[in-house]
Formats: sequence, structure tokens, C-alpha cells
Amino acid sequence: MGNWCIPTEAQRLPTADELAADDFIAYQGKSLRLELDGSIPLDNPVLDGVRSHVFTYGHRNMQGIDFAPDGTLYASEQGPKTDDEVNILVPGGNYGWPHIAGFRDDRAYQYARWKDATTPCAQLQFSDIVIDPSVPVEDETSWTEPFNAPLATLFTVPNDWDFADPTCKGIDFICWPTVAASSIEAYMPKVSPIPGWDNSLLVTTLKRGSIYRLPLTPDGAHLRGPIERYFQSENRFRDTAVSPDGRSIYVATDTGGLAEALSGGTTTTLQNPGAILVFTYEGGANEAVTPKDATTRRTGSPDMAPAPVQSAGLAVHYTAEQAGRGSTLYAANCVSCHGPNLVGANHGTPLSGAYFADKWAGRSVDRLFQGMRDSMPPSRPATLSDQEYIDLVAYILSVNGAKAGAVALATETDQLDLMVIETSGKEE
Ligand code: HEC
Repeated sequence: MGNWCIPTEAQRLPTADELAADDFIAYQGKSLRLELDGSIPLDNPVLDGVRSHVFTYGHRNMQGIDFAPDGTLYASEQGPKTDDEVNILVPGGNYGWPHIAGFRDDRAYQYARWKDATTPCAQLQFSDIVIDPSVPVEDETSWTEPFNAPLATLFTVPNDWDFADPTCKGIDFICWPTVAASSIEAYMPKVSPIPGWDNSLLVTTLKRGSIYRLPLTPDGAHLRGPIERYFQSENRFRDTAVSPDGRSIYVATDTGGLAEALSGGTTTTLQNPGAILVFTYEGGANEAVTPKDATTRRTGSPDMAPAPVQSAGLAVHYTAEQAGRGSTLYAANCVSCHGPNLVGANHGTPLSGAYFADKWAGRSVDRLFQGMRDSMPPSRPATLSDQEYIDLVAYILSVNGAKAGAVALATETDQLDLMVIETSGKEE
């Protein structure tokens, strides 16, 4: 917790003293260029009087890199809520983070210096949406250093954009304009078999289960048309490779995680978890441009929640002390994925609010207890005691509006089966 209180090092350049001491703290937020033996190439850029492994700086979260046949170096990078970037990396270039996300356009991004807040940062509750008034804020245009603008952004939006889209039921980041750009591939086969695709960049997306194609001008330095989206699916696309004949595009998918559902909103049931998909173009030189999906779909992991129970036998009960123990266990074992106060985060679903209510209201406490015990935390399920899992259930029920009482929730399955989850989570 509390990463927002830690300074961003993306603009800080390594000093000669740091290098002499093998201190690489300033390598964060940089691209590095190394000799194969790990030494510093003699033609690396000299930045602030120092030659280091640093090739470019001012980056937020680079994910993909690829050379075009002419040696141009393209890189994809994830932005905050807007402005994933595609950049051309040139020696010594400054790509602007954290002063700038995307273009220097003052659109839907300001640099909020949480660590410099007049209220001590650790006392602040971080929010992606609302910047605390005690946090100093900078417009992009107030930073006037030389800046290497991106070739393109995915995507930039106006300042009045609503970043809390109810379609995503509290998993806001899935609905944000960023696509979670992962790999980048220069699609520049010697002969392009796919009409219109020659001289394009292919960028995979983690949260939108598709490939974005960026058509380039002949010099490779600008877009020559709109960015197109292909192969939409409920997956997280991690990386691509293109066959030598340019006809097939291979895609590696993640084994799990959150993604955009085909109908909008979010899903955790991926269509092709941990798979290599192949998309092969089967048309002739003048035929339609969309390659066919050559994959067989298989269903994702089984859903933890079964059909709603028919009749309630027993009122839900737990003690405040028990929920308190659950809260402590949650902080130690679950908060990294499910977020503070059960609101959800990048690696886990919300366990409160509308998303949780949709899935769990009307279902039995026993299913929640057993499902959780048998699958959470994902790396080591069933490693807590039954008592600990039931305390966690009590905590989850308390956050979702159930009232504490004098009788503790026990681990007896036949009783839990008669209790129906009710939530005060707001419906849309
Ligand atoms: C590494 C990340 C991670 C950790 C740690 C983790 N979870 Fe999860 N949890 C997930 C993901 C991802 C899902 C969604 C799985 C799915 O729907 O297939 C999930 C689902 C759940 C669900 C079902 C929610 C739903 O949407 O149906 C519950 C309940 C749950 N977790 C509780 C816990 C508890 C309690 C802990 C701590 C003991 C915990 N989790 C730790 C990632 C995590």
C-alpha cells in the first residue's frame, strides 16, 4: 500500500557516483541498452554528463518493443487512465512521464504530486478519480522541457470524461480509455499478403482481448489512418508473432485475470486462458481485410457461484469481533488483489458493491465459504484454517451490509447452506 507516496524516478538520471557504487535506483522508468556481457555500450547517450545503460527516459510502464526492418525502434507503453502510448525510441529521448501522459495537450491528465501533499501523504486515501485538495497538481503544458511526443495514443479523451463508468460495476479500470497495451509488432513482411496491412504496427491489449492495428506512413513515423481493432474476444492478449509468409498472426493469452466482456462490462471467465491463438488470412490479394478467427473456443474456469438457493432457513449472523479478525486476515492475504475495503483492484474482483451483489445476492453463505476456501488465495488455496475462512466470510458480509450480532458464524456446512447472502450493494 501507499505507492502513491513514493517519488517517481522516471525523470531522474543516474549520477556517476551511483554507477560507481552499482546503485541502479535511477534506472526506473527508463529503457536500457546493454552490451551482451552487461557492460555499457560506448555509443550510449550521455545524459547530464553521464553515460550509463540508460537509452531513453521519462517512461511509465513500457510493455513491448520491436525493431522495424529499417532499424526504427518502436515501443508500447501503458498510461495511467488514458494515453497508452506507442513511441519511437531515439537515443537520449525524454518521453515525459510523469509530467506528461500521451501528448502535451492538457487533456484528461494532470501530474498530481501526492508525495508533496501538505497533508502527510500516508494519511491520505488514494483515489484514481479525485485528487485530494492538499496534493499539488501540474498541467502538462506547465512542464516545458524537451519532449519526445508519442507516435500515437490509445486513447486520449476530453477533460470531462467520466472515469467511473457504471457498466464496469466498480472495476473502473476495465472501462478506462486505456487498452492496457502489451506487446508491439512491426507488421512489415517483404510481401504483404493482407490487403492494406503492409507497414502497420500490431499492439496487443490485456484488458480488451484484441489486436489494435496502427497503419503507418511510408517513413514509419506517423499514422496514415485510424487505429483499427481486430479479433475482439474475452481474453487478455499478451504477445504476438507473425509467420514468415505474413499470413498468420499468433497470439499468446494470459492464464487468468480481468478483461472486457463482449457485451460490455467485465468478465473473469476468459475464453482461451493460457493459449496460443492463430489468426490466418485466407483471402486473396484483393479480398476482405479481416482475417478469420482460426481458433476453437473453450470455456474458462468454472464459476464459483451456483444457482440461487430457493428458500432461506436461517438468518445470517456473525459477531463484530469475528469480522475484525477477518479484516486483519484480509489485509494480510487478500488486499493486494481485491483492494482496500473490498473495492477490487487490478488483480481481483470487487468483493462489495454492485458487482458483488449481482453475483452473490441470493446465494448461500456456504457456497461463498467453500468456494473461497477452495480457490483463494489463488497461489495457495485452502492454506488458512476453516475458522480463518469463516472469519473472512464474516468480514465480507459485514462490508456488504449484514449486521453483527451476539452469535458467531460457525463453520458447520449444513447451517451455512441455509443462510442466504443479502447485500446492500447498490443496483444500477
Ligand atoms: C493473486 C490475487 C488474489 C488474491 C491474493 C486473492 N484473490 Fe480472491 N479472487 C481473485 C480473482 C482474479 C478472482 C476472480 C476469479 C474468477 O472469477 O474466476 C477472485 C475471486 C474471489 C472471490 C469470488 C468473487 C466473485 O467475483 O465471485 C472471493 C469471495 C475471493 N476471491 C476471496 C478472496 C479472499 C478471502 C482472499 C484472501 C484469503 C483472496 N480472495 C485472495 C484474485 C485474488
